[in-house]
This record gives sequence, C-alpha cells and structure tokens, in this order.
Amino acid sequence: MAHSSKKLLLRRRPRRLRASEGVRRLIEEHAVTVRDLIAPVFCKEDGAREEIPSMPGVFRYQPQDALRFALDLHERGVPAIALFPCIPESNKDATGSAALDSDGLIPRVIREIKERAPSLLVIADVALDPYTTHGHDGIWNSETEEIENDVTVGLLCNMARVLGRAGVDFVAPSDMMDGRVGAIRASLDEADLERVGVLSYAVKFASAFYGPFRDAVGSRRAKGYLDKRSYQLNPANLREGLLEAQLDEAEGADILMVKPAGPYLDVISKVRDRTLLPVAAYQVSGEYAQIVAAAQNGWLDLEATYREALLSIKRAGADMIFTYFAPLFVGMRDSLTT
Ligand code: PBG
Repeated sequence: MAHSSKKLLLRRRPRRLRASEGVRRLIEEHAVTVRDLIAPVFCKEDGAREEIPSMPGVFRYQPQDALRFALDLHERGVPAIALFPCIPESNKDATGSAALDSDGLIPRVIREIKERAPSLLVIADVALDPYTTHGHDGIWNSETEEIENDVTVGLLCNMARVLGRAGVDFVAPSDMMDGRVGAIRASLDEADLERVGVLSYAVKFASAFYGPFRDAVGSRRAKGYLDKRSYQLNPANLREGLLEAQLDEAEGADILMVKPAGPYLDVISKVRDRTLLPVAAYQVSGEYAQIVAAAQNGWLDLEATYREALLSIKRAGADMIFTYFAPLFVGMRDSLTT
C-alpha cells in the first residue's frame, strides 16, 4: 500500500516539545543531581580492599581506605555516605554484642571521617544483622523461635547512642522492630544527643533484592534462606507500608525511607503524597547487581540504564537516594569495567 501524504490537521502535536535538545531541556520535569545521592560504604577491619563478587565495582574497605573513598566522594559533591560493617565471624554472637562496642569498627570510622570531613554527612545503620551469628536484625529466642521485639529495641537504643557519641549525623534503624523509632529518639535525647537525626527505614520490605548486600556484610547464611518476614513487610502490602510510615513519623523520625526503590515506586509515590517529611529511597544491592550484570553481558547500556533507574526513583517522589552507583555518577569509574 502506498503511503498517504495527506497532512493531519492536528491542534496538538506533542512532538513539538521533543524536537530539539533545547526544548527538551526546557520542559524537563525531574533531574537527578549529585546532591540527591547517598553512597553506601562497606567497611572491614584490615587488608586490601575486597570486591564483593555479587556487586562488581563495590568494595569493602579497611578504615583508612574507607576514609579516602569517602573523602573522594565528598570532594566530588556527594553530600552523604551510609556506613555498613563486615566483621569477622569470630566477633559475632547470638546477641550481636559487637554492635555496642564504642571502639568497634563503625564508631572508629565515624570518628575518623567526622574529624577529617565534618561537612560530609555520615549515616549509620541501626540493626544487629552484621553482628549476629544467625544474621537476623534482632534477638532470636530459640524456644519461641521468634525475634524478640522489645528486648531488641533496648539493644538498638544502646547501639544508637554508641553511634551518636561517635559523631554520626543520622542513625538509620533498618531492623523493622515495632516502636524502635520512638525509643531511639528518646534514648538519644536522654543522652544529650538531640542533634543526631533518625532516618528511618520506615517501609522496608522482605525483599529478595537484598541478596548481594548480605554477601557484602557477611550475613548470608550458607544453609537455609534468611527469612525476615516476621519483621520486614510483605511485598504484597501497600497500606501496611503506609501505616509503618505514619507510625515512624509520629514517633519522631526526621526522614522516612522506602526500600527497595525500583520495584516499589508506587510506595515511594504514596508515601510522598502522605507526609511532609523528606522521603528517601534505597536502590538496593540487587537492583545494582541486575543492571551491572546485564551491562557486563553487553545486554544493557550501563550508564543510560542506571541513570534512568535513578531518575524513575526521583520522579516517584524520593528526595534522596541511597545508591551504589554514586561513585560512578561522580566519575569514579576505576573500579567498574564493562
Ligand atoms: C540490614 C540491612 C539490609 C540492607 C540494609 N540494611 C539487609 C537486610 O535487611 O537483610 C539491604 C541493603 C541492600 O540490599 O543494598 N538490616
């Protein structure tokens, strides 16, 4: 069939606004900038930096290297980092007592960083999983076979104080115990640590996308699936997630986080609509791993894909994004070859 050359009489031609780079930029609604990014940093006690096999381009650093990495990110404009420990199995126990050591790995790294770069915001997780032999975020009662909520919250309060005294800017409870935000807020205030903020992992789902992170902090258990469904949210539930956000806000959280990010854009958007607090989103390890793996196979364009993924998270309503792509975003690409 021959092509008809008949002109359509169209009042609206949306393509006019896409015709040139200039007009495309003019009407752009959302953008990701370096100021939106929070870079996770994995720390370990000593030795050369180690690449995490399931997260190519992401490393564990000993304290001096972690400091150098953090300073480099900061100089390139990244406003905040989030610290995670990987401690030797021999330092773990059933109650995660190493988490309460004021001279432990993370408190030492916090002190170093805040001394050298006071304007770099430092966020530290509050949860027991990197410190427990069983890899759970709380205290495991082997008789009832349950994670004990209130006992765990007591420990988390102590952990938050240890991090606060070390100089952390925000503690980030990632454990999903009930009532922990209010308890941590009160406990910080009692210890004259009212300057320390609470960035709550408010809406955290029991997600398969955390797999590579558990390699990174050494909490993946060889036998058996680490089942956190008795405290993390069911991925099927939106309303329950919104309720968690509401509770954390009422308990005094300064910033509410949704996690993971990409598969939960609807949740980010709804939380954004319902709160006046800043909303954070965590583009988690599995979201990083899937993009990088596909790029390494030549199936996706790394740069374009990860930028699109970050943009979607911003568009959904996140004010800030925890992302393993932060170093790449600011041009630190020595580590990742595709
Ligand atoms: C620990 C914690 C997890 C993540 C951040 N803090 C893992 C988990 O809950 O099992 C996941 C981050 C990621 O996958 O990048 N409570």
